[in-house]
Amino acid sequence: MPQALLLENIHPDAAKSLRDHGFTVTTMKGALSEDELIEALDGVDLLGVRSKTTVTRKVIDARPNLSAIGCFCIGTNQVDLDYAGTHGIAVFNAPYSNTRSVVELVIGDIICLLRRIPAHTHHMKHGMWDKSANGSHEVRGKTLGIIGYGNIGSQLSVLAEALGMRVMFYDLEEKLALGNAQRCETLNELLEQSDIVTLHVDGRKSNTGFFGEDQFAHMKQDSIFLNLSRGFVADLGALKQHLDSGHIAGAAVDVFPIEPKKTGDPFETALADEDNMILTPHIGGSTLEAQESIGHFVSQRLEDYWEKGSTSLSVNMPQINLSENRGVARIAHLHSNLPGVLARVNHVLGEENINIAAQALGTEGELGYVVTDVAQRPNRETLEALRSIEGTIRMRVIS
Ligand code: NAI
Repeated sequence: MPQALLLENIHPDAAKSLRDHGFTVTTMKGALSEDELIEALDGVDLLGVRSKTTVTRKVIDARPNLSAIGCFCIGTNQVDLDYAGTHGIAVFNAPYSNTRSVVELVIGDIICLLRRIPAHTHHMKHGMWDKSANGSHEVRGKTLGIIGYGNIGSQLSVLAEALGMRVMFYDLEEKLALGNAQRCETLNELLEQSDIVTLHVDGRKSNTGFFGEDQFAHMKQDSIFLNLSRGFVADLGALKQHLDSGHIAGAAVDVFPIEPKKTGDPFETALADEDNMILTPHIGGSTLEAQESIGHFVSQRLEDYWEKGSTSLSVNMPQINLSENRGVARIAHLHSNLPGVLARVNHVLGEENINIAAQALGTEGELGYVVTDVAQRPNRETLEALRSIEGTIRMRVIS
């Protein structure tokens, strides 16, 4: 029976689905270190991780038979994607399943910060009745500055406008402005006009420390700051200084430069004593609805890859969306993207008088992927001949 290992408390529907598809599934609650992961991957075909398990070159070299990795989250930076691809390991993620969850929390955070709910709650818990409108505002009519207008940023834009906010955004790429949102040419243009600044950039390396002292300094007096994107993007020391000086009126931070590995681990932040501050433990995308949706989405991608060879929505393979096998066997051949590999595959099959019932080829970057449904079952010599074609990375026969 094929084996699947699911780490980091992935939604139980994923394990159930994989079991229904014939896998023996082992689940673990926490993340694993590099050496623990290598150990645990013995005999494993499919690995499921969330954001805390890093799949390095060392892991891939140590477990070359691993077939696919499912990232049950949005980001895939925890996996060395290129190395996995050139070693025949397909990687899948769930790019949209928790978008709505993040957007709803951002909206909730903004309303709470504009009404100074964290400060009011703190006072109430300490026996102080402070019924005043000081520093409290409606969201209606406020300018929201969204940095990173991708899946989350653009959906936030729509919901914020529905609340009567004016939306501005800044993105490195050309993006279609939804509704009445206005694109800013520069980051400073956005910072200088926004009452609320919220980060929704991706986790590319160049975004490390992207939002620091200079950027905070450009924000409006009494504005609000939110980061629910990546922890390494914003300088929290600079944020603290601007909160302490009274320049920034409140902040919500969901992601941190260093985060504990698992639930229950201790956590400290210098922002803990701030007055109008919402601190959450990287739960922007963590709703039961999102987890369930991610569990379904990624396990389906893994099952489709295992059973059909389909690489549709893979983040590191040429994409081929395949239907049911139209022959008696399906041969999935991943190779370096060199000229003539398809011709050589067909030559080997032709030499053995094997008829091709259907064939699909995809190439991307360094990789080529050809999937062939054959009308006769190939024998061992034919498979060996296919495997010895120059540039072959991995070959699988799917019945
Ligand atoms: P996405 O990839 O769809 O959008 C990111 C956008 O940011 C892209 O349009 C990109 O061009 C832009 N961008 C990147 N660097 C930029 C920069 N320096 N300046 C301006 N624009 C820049 O990503 P998506 O799905 O919208 O997610 C956004 C972030 O939210 C990601 O970092 C993701 O990891 C994080 N996230 C956090 C969650 C949480 O639990 N807090 C849950 C889900 C996602």
